[in-house]
Amino acid sequence: MHAKLRKAVFPVAGLGSRFLPVTKASPKEMLPIVDKPLIQYAVEEAAAAGITEMIFVTGRNKRAIEDHFDKAYELETELERKGKNVLLDLVRSVLPEGVRCIYIRQAEPLGLGHAVLCAQPVVGYEPFAVLLADDLMDSQPPAMVRMAQAFEREGSSLLGVEEVPRDQTQSYGIVTADRMQGDLARIHSIVEKPKPSEAPSNLGVIGRYVLSPRIFDLLSEVSPGAGGEVQLTDAISALLVHERVLAIRLPGKRYDCGSKLGYLQATVELGLRHPEIGEAFGQYLKLR
Ligand code: G1P
Repeated sequence: MHAKLRKAVFPVAGLGSRFLPVTKASPKEMLPIVDKPLIQYAVEEAAAAGITEMIFVTGRNKRAIEDHFDKAYELETELERKGKNVLLDLVRSVLPEGVRCIYIRQAEPLGLGHAVLCAQPVVGYEPFAVLLADDLMDSQPPAMVRMAQAFEREGSSLLGVEEVPRDQTQSYGIVTADRMQGDLARIHSIVEKPKPSEAPSNLGVIGRYVLSPRIFDLLSEVSPGAGGEVQLTDAISALLVHERVLAIRLPGKRYDCGSKLGYLQATVELGLRHPEIGEAFGQYLKLR
């Protein structure tokens, strides 16, 4: 396998039904945490890891994501004319330097595995990252930086993992693995969203993956699994037969911004640290 990661896949075609009605006409990945949409946090994290090709697997109602990373010609001209240079820089720096965006449509929401398979023509036969933008990773160094370093060292697929509460195993891919050596452990099995009574452990997969291109062959063979969808988890389970796959414990804190509670927690925590309003927001929270 190549030692360096160059490409990241962002599956963004999901319906965002947990956030209706706000997601009726707007992508959930454009929900802001203070003033930046979730998808921008994920793209910045990938860019920090040296990834330069950002591949978005999009669907209907997702045009805002393309517009967000595109040049905003009228807006930039207007800000320039008014001499609003700080805002102009902010708008221009949405897409990190040296980064390219590529968009592919997933016509039907057939599952995460299917979304990743849609990216195959652009990824080609090289290892790649997958980032699920609704898992917001708040850490320094960024989570994907750690994963890229581990990948360069180990040369095998990696899944971000975290211990999850027993009663929540049904929301995650759950793995069994060896004891952690540092922040890595070899995975033996993986199952998608088991009931707590059937879960083989409480080590849950979070929305950060580095995958060997062999996953594409396996994705095209797996039949629909949990929820009638083509599951990435099932293809990873098949990958385990052929290749070593490692679990990696990531630094910092994960916010599950696919849930309202996690979203609000991220908003409060990042709001409190925001350079412009952090202090005033802290005062407000204390006073009420
Ligand atoms: C997906 C995966 C699941 C993983 C989770 C992480 O589920 O299918 O294995 O644990 O992402 O966020 P989703 O949250 O899209 O239902």
